[in-house]
Amino acid sequence: MRVWVPLDAAARALGADEVAEALAPDFAVTRNGTRGMIWLEPLVEVERDGIRYGYGPVEPEDAASVAQAIRDGSDHPLALGPVEELPWMRQQTRLTFARVGVTDPLSVSEYEAHGGLQGLQRAIEIGPEAIVTEVTDSGLRGRGGAGFPTGIKWKTVAGAKAPRKYIVCNADEGDSGSFADRMLMEGDPLTLIEGMAIAGIAVGAVQGYLYIRSEYPDAIRIFEAAIGKARQAGILGQSVLGSQYAYDMEVRVGAGAYVCGEETSLLNSLEGKRGTVRAKPPIPALEGFLGRPTVVNNVISLASVPWIMAHGGAEYAKLGIGRSKGTIPIQIAGNVKYGGLFEAAFGMTLGQIINDIGGGTASGRPVRAAQVGGPLGAYVPVSNFDAPFGYEELGAKDALLGHAGISVFDDTADMLSLARFAMEFCAVESCGKCTPCRIGSIRGVETIDRIASGDEDGIPILKDLCNTMKWGSLCALGGFAPFPVMSALTHFPEDFSGRGQPRK
Ligand code: NAI
Ligand code: SF4
Repeated sequence: MRVWVPLDAAARALGADEVAEALAPDFAVTRNGTRGMIWLEPLVEVERDGIRYGYGPVEPEDAASVAQAIRDGSDHPLALGPVEELPWMRQQTRLTFARVGVTDPLSVSEYEAHGGLQGLQRAIEIGPEAIVTEVTDSGLRGRGGAGFPTGIKWKTVAGAKAPRKYIVCNADEGDSGSFADRMLMEGDPLTLIEGMAIAGIAVGAVQGYLYIRSEYPDAIRIFEAAIGKARQAGILGQSVLGSQYAYDMEVRVGAGAYVCGEETSLLNSLEGKRGTVRAKPPIPALEGFLGRPTVVNNVISLASVPWIMAHGGAEYAKLGIGRSKGTIPIQIAGNVKYGGLFEAAFGMTLGQIINDIGGGTASGRPVRAAQVGGPLGAYVPVSNFDAPFGYEELGAKDALLGHAGISVFDDTADMLSLARFAMEFCAVESCGKCTPCRIGSIRGVETIDRIASGDEDGIPILKDLCNTMKWGSLCALGGFAPFPVMSALTHFPEDFSGRGQPRK
């Protein structure tokens, strides 16, 4: 009998390896990605009559009794029933994550049996120009955070005249509370390889790089193994799936700087230089890796492409709201009852995501705020939870979607301390190239400390400083650090006044 135990880093941290080891003598154990329901990890699955049944969370000491229940079909307190029928699974629109948690991440045959390679085959049939049109029609926008239209970026690179072009996948997923890239790379790396190969054909690049953070050892190991499998299967190489197109790729591991998630500093690091930000223009689409036209896209942007190619851009564009088309893998984290990855069409409200899907706080106390879009994202108060999840819709509330990570805080959160953390984060991670960020962030920490000690004259100075950083910084690190600070000041002014007094 075949059982599945996730190999995902989050599941492993919760004991999945021990559980897999305990089940191995009795069953054929396949290590899959995670379904994204972290509170149920390690989630053990078994197939009966074509339906996958789950047990979770299975601690290593539960393994023997779960094994017994699987063998004789008896009831078990950890039995969850059919996994696909769980509300968390049923309410999703899993396009990009369709195979994550379902297949063996390193099996090309399972990948194909579950719809893999259809997008690449179609891409080869229709050729570069039509691929770019299809991606443009899908409305896909950069999932790294900036939301730039992927089709337009590819068109720029495709139209650039150069002897060599490159595809660079930005897997430097540095945002706190973000883990979609990691889960995809660990759970279904072939989708990303397929997406990168399609990008290569579209723009005329024969070489790609996955730039991944060193903090993701599992993803690095799995992805390197997946590249080997893809080469063996003819997905990568001199003749992609037997076509006239060549494409191959390599993994490059970063050294732990948050700013290397910014595309120009990533390119510097990839070239073996110090990871500092380059001024734009020129944009990487025209002068990127080694000065050549380069597509720099986030993991989820590229991994969304195989589905779009297989089903058509118009199908993808039917989902979502306004200018936010398709689906988005939402990462729900922080003080939340049900945390994990939830892929849905754009348009759910923040309240639905946090309260209905996430189940409110893990502490059981009222939600006070949610930070959306990583450490540089705004703190959104409950009064703005009616905001639909979309680029412009969150922008209208002075918030940003970013990489779609949400960190939830309950009513014990001190918003001044959280604002201070944003400035401190910026000071620690600043590449030092421009003054507003390098010096402004340090002055920001000092000013917040001044306010914390009761000196309210620091408040207008802090606002002024935020303005300078927002408009005067060279890249998003210094330019966006004011968002959490200003949102905390605007929505929670009570946390900034009357400090220095004993607080209730
Ligand atoms: P940006 O707005 O400068 O550029 C967006 C993308 O569009 C870039 O790749 C740029 O080269 C490209 N582009 C712009 N004009 C173009 C044109 N005419 N043709 C082709 N390509 C063009 O934004 P940036 O600085 O790249 O990213 C900022 C975002 O990064 C923020 O919104 C933030 O949310 C996000 N971020 C994400 C993190 C993560 O862990 N995923 C970490 C930190 C920030
Ligand atoms: Fe470097 Fe900060 Fe300036 Fe960005 S804003 S270039 S991280 S100093």
